[in-house]
Amino acid sequence: MRSLIYALSILVFFTACKDTTPSDKQEASEESTTIDYKEKGRSITDAAFSRLSQNLMKAMQEGGVPYAVDYCHVEAYPITDSVSSDFEVSIRRTSAKYRNPENQPTSFEAALINHYEAQSGSKQMQDSLIVLDDGSHVYARPILLQEPCLNCHGTVGQEVKEEHYALIKEKYPEDKAVGYSAGDFRGLWMVRF
Ligand code: HEC
Repeated sequence: MRSLIYALSILVFFTACKDTTPSDKQEASEESTTIDYKEKGRSITDAAFSRLSQNLMKAMQEGGVPYAVDYCHVEAYPITDSVSSDFEVSIRRTSAKYRNPENQPTSFEAALINHYEAQSGSKQMQDSLIVLDDGSHVYARPILLQEPCLNCHGTVGQEVKEEHYALIKEKYPEDKAVGYSAGDFRGLWMVRF
């Protein structure tokens, strides 16, 4: 718990002090490390998002929602794992309303999600870099829902067809990941360096 509070206070520090100019060398180098990791985090999550969404769109075109659900069920993890190994980091998605129980947030991730949910609705949700007690860096980036995502994460009986939701429930009996609207905060990409 102490380390969590520490990590969150660092998070607030980075958010609050973005615009200040560092006055000594040590602060300057900490600042450049932060920017460096943030940029890496952004390009890694860009790569992961484009690999996942290109494959998803292709599956939707080939066989509609049922085929794409099967595809995500089998391929979502191998695709994010391929990004992890290409960039030599660990990357995953997590959400308070998760579909795959493997994506259930840890207590650290849940605290971050709460932090973001509190800002939900405000215009811009920033990505964050957190320095843990052991000096390692964790990058977090909010995932926002777009229109095409609603086929599988919207309201059941409206955007999500009943028969499609039955297929989703077969694979994910504990599914919580429906009832969203476009623009909603869906969860986080987490990158551990
Ligand atoms: C064809 C249906 C389908 C569409 C369209 C879809 N998803 Fe998903 N989504 C899934 C499935 C199935 C999973 C579970 C994957 C797994 O087993 O890891 C999932 C998992 C997720 C997760 C991981 C957290 C969790 O709930 O397990 C996030 C985040 C997510 N989707 C966001 C999105 C976003 C953003 C879009 C639009 C760009 C989108 N999804 C479009 C079916 C879909």
